[in-house]
Amino acid sequence: MNYPQFIQDQITAIQQQVGRGRAINAVSGGVDSSVVTALAHRALGSQLKTIFVENALMREGEPQRVAGIFAKLGIPVEIIDARAAFLGALKGLTDPEQKRQAITDTFYRDVFVSEVKRSGAKFLFHGTILTDIEETVAGIKRQHNILTQLGINTEEAYGYQVVEPLKTLRKDGVREVGRLLGLPDDVVRRIPFPGPALAARIVGEVTEARLTTVRAATAIVEEELAGTGAFQYLAVLLNDYATGIRNGKREFGQIIVVRCIDSVDAREATVRELSWDTLHRLTRRITSIPGVNRCLYDLTPKPPATVEYV
Ligand code: XMP
Repeated sequence: MNYPQFIQDQITAIQQQVGRGRAINAVSGGVDSSVVTALAHRALGSQLKTIFVENALMREGEPQRVAGIFAKLGIPVEIIDARAAFLGALKGLTDPEQKRQAITDTFYRDVFVSEVKRSGAKFLFHGTILTDIEETVAGIKRQHNILTQLGINTEEAYGYQVVEPLKTLRKDGVREVGRLLGLPDDVVRRIPFPGPALAARIVGEVTEARLTTVRAATAIVEEELAGTGAFQYLAVLLNDYATGIRNGKREFGQIIVVRCIDSVDAREATVRELSWDTLHRLTRRITSIPGVNRCLYDLTPKPPATVEYV
């Protein structure tokens, strides 16, 4: 693929489609949404409004980090506080598809519709990539950002057109386009992070307390495993409890799973062999999170497992 040509073609197509209209997009700080932000901004400049939806499901310090990165590139990002809406929609839900659906609905139907109205935008940019489409169409999983491919008419349902300029690329291609658009290395090389964010890593109900736990574990895993160069590493909070001992007392504690995988495009994945040293260090740190008394390392490749747990 000739990526400079791809960028030129997409810019032309975007300018033709949007004309003098206004467009909006949400950036999460992940590779896909960051690249689509840079690409759409290159094509549309101030016709594009970029927001960061603070949905309570993000990693530590994300909103400020992301806004800071784009500010340096001259791309303003507005942070929208929608924490209550997402936590309310997820309350009581334990089924993975229902959780994903609740996040999709809250994002598009509630938060986004009002932001789109406020901005007057008729076009919404999405960081959908080819793998998202394939897996959704195959029925493996409904990806957070797939609507059109499922036959949902966004113009009828939500009042705007969805534009997906990255939908023919896989992850490696998206990174290359981002690099060419001048995104910094820590964005372009950043490990993938799912649309449903930390909710994809909580088995069972998503609550503020459980988010705090998985967020702390995520920060530890990302810090400890950044040097591995693995494709993706993450922490998952299980819905089971196990007996343990803390300060000489019996404790029925929570269980965190650590996953570290190698992959080219996330369609298949193998498990990285971590040293016992690393595994012990991770275990020590993770079991010092309040309420967590077990840490497990997941040895399952994809397939049969998926990368995320929800
Ligand atoms: P799975 O769990 O399906 O994940 O094996 C494959 C890759 O996709 C990421 N992922 C998502 N990305 N929206 C996204 O944008 C989603 O709903 C979603 N679910 C999973 C996951 O982190 C992995 O890199």
